[in-house]
Amino acid sequence: MTDGPAQTIKEKLDIVEFLRGYLPMIPAGKNLKARCPFHNEKTPSFMISPERQTWHCFGCGLGGDIFAFLMKYENMEFGEALKVLAEKAGVELKRADPREYKVFGLLYELQDAAKDFWKEQLKTAKIAKDYLNERGLTPETIEEFEIGFAPNDQDSLAMYLINKGYDPADITRAGLIGRTERGLQYDRFRGRIMFPIHNHLGKVVGFTGRILPQLDTGELGKYVNSPETPIFNKSKLLYGFWKSKSAVRESGKAYLVEGQMDFLMSYQAGVKNAVATSGTALTPDHILALRKIAEELLVSFDNDDAGFAAGERAIDLAEAGGMQVRIVSLEGVKDPAEAAQKDPKILGEAIAKAEPAFKVFFRRYLPWGKVDPLNHAELKNLRILLNKIKSISSPVERDYWLKDLATYAKMSESTLKEEMEKVQVVQAPERFREEEKIIPERKYSRGERISKDLLGAAYSRGDYSILNDVEDLLDPSSKKLLKTLKSGAKKAADPEEDAFLNLVILEAADVSDGEIADMKSALKDGSSKTKRLELTERVKEAEAKGDEEALKKAIEELRSLPPG
Ligand code: CTP
Ligand code: MN
Repeated sequence: MTDGPAQTIKEKLDIVEFLRGYLPMIPAGKNLKARCPFHNEKTPSFMISPERQTWHCFGCGLGGDIFAFLMKYENMEFGEALKVLAEKAGVELKRADPREYKVFGLLYELQDAAKDFWKEQLKTAKIAKDYLNERGLTPETIEEFEIGFAPNDQDSLAMYLINKGYDPADITRAGLIGRTERGLQYDRFRGRIMFPIHNHLGKVVGFTGRILPQLDTGELGKYVNSPETPIFNKSKLLYGFWKSKSAVRESGKAYLVEGQMDFLMSYQAGVKNAVATSGTALTPDHILALRKIAEELLVSFDNDDAGFAAGERAIDLAEAGGMQVRIVSLEGVKDPAEAAQKDPKILGEAIAKAEPAFKVFFRRYLPWGKVDPLNHAELKNLRILLNKIKSISSPVERDYWLKDLATYAKMSESTLKEEMEKVQVVQAPERFREEEKIIPERKYSRGERISKDLLGAAYSRGDYSILNDVEDLLDPSSKKLLKTLKSGAKKAADPEEDAFLNLVILEAADVSDGEIADMKSALKDGSSKTKRLELTERVKEAEAKGDEEALKKAIEELRSLPPG
């Protein structure tokens, strides 16, 4: 990492305060710990050190400073993270590199300008306002989510932006205008309600536009989306997540719906932990973003075959990604938006009654419970269920649902298990496995690990004198580290030593006197074991050489070792 602004930012921002916005953490001695957002875990192995201003996950091996965290978490380049953190720290950056500005800065600026233009247009477009009102959106929601209206003109946005001095080529790159074959430029969005899509930090990165029914000629889609640009990646973004992130984190649950209107109406009805995909199927990247902060996914998709199919694919993916999934069933309405409009209370009640996805699947695939093995259709459906169970990432949950299916289908668990072995499992997407890869750490010997824990204990007590009687037994790197720690330094210049120091500090625990005594005797024991092996070798050697003197000395030393 470079010096300069990055260094200044790191001095100004406290990593603990910053990460608190992302993760619930609990104190652990001088450090804090949390469940790692980068891999799937139930017990926290993600440590944060206020003194080193670093983090490290002992589960997946990732670690680093505040920049490394933000880049990994938000999937950002260093340049983007620098901008975000500089703003937060109040550090002025020198003018950005013009090439980089073209790629990111200008794109953000253009989305913002378009959003402002369309918001302004909505104010005077009565038919658009009436439509939003008819759909049940309040003026507050419209304002909060910056909804606008694109007039049904050939190029009113293009003209507005060009008059502001933007280059048509850049406006095109931003996905806001297109060109006919004869070179005429036209606005991509015309006669549409405009929903800005914010990235997870709240910046507008693209749009989805819904046609006003009165203008719908059926020629273009009901919804039109921005094209992918360097700042807009649909397969990673969740609509509304910038607003709902904190509620998702607090409840540990995310309520997943299919579209913008479903999201907005749910949010407005008080379901603040909603998120929506927009214009794409749910992807592994979406799941990765959600499972960092939530264990459970509540799903309600449209009440039709397409909705069920999309819902089922989303659920399979979430289960494979290690989330628990519940289905929120909405009776007698088209989708969550309609339910919320009918009565804002409906959603909350349906969510409270959400059922584990497998319960719903069992009923959907085997409506009669008992399976007739001679009935092909039933057998096929049973295999579909077994396939889903086999794909669950947690073995404990897999076992649970297999048992449950055995009861439900009135079959023996062992038969089902045998059948399950045979079905072809849907592989967890590569993307999950990539994230789950364990980065191997340097292997530390038993002696080094004990020394490391002892150093950690002394560090956490702030009293190194407790190590006086074992100092000689420490391995060479621990000895060196002890000196560094005694000097009060929290970083070491040598990278190998620094990595070890990192482990000592981040794993330092407040341990009792008894435990310290145990560790010390384990260290002594270990070192006498090593010593014994060494001396036995020397005895053999001396015997072979016939070196009486050496033999006598080795035997004497061997005798003086503590028994064991
Ligand atoms: N969608 C899309 N392109 C389409 C149709 C749908 O991108 N041609 C996306 C939109 O994000 C939409 C979501 O898929 O919100 C769900 O589609 P649908 O159920 O058809 O939309 P609704 O939310 O029901 O739309 P509305 O209630 O406005 O009719
Ligand atoms: Mn819908």
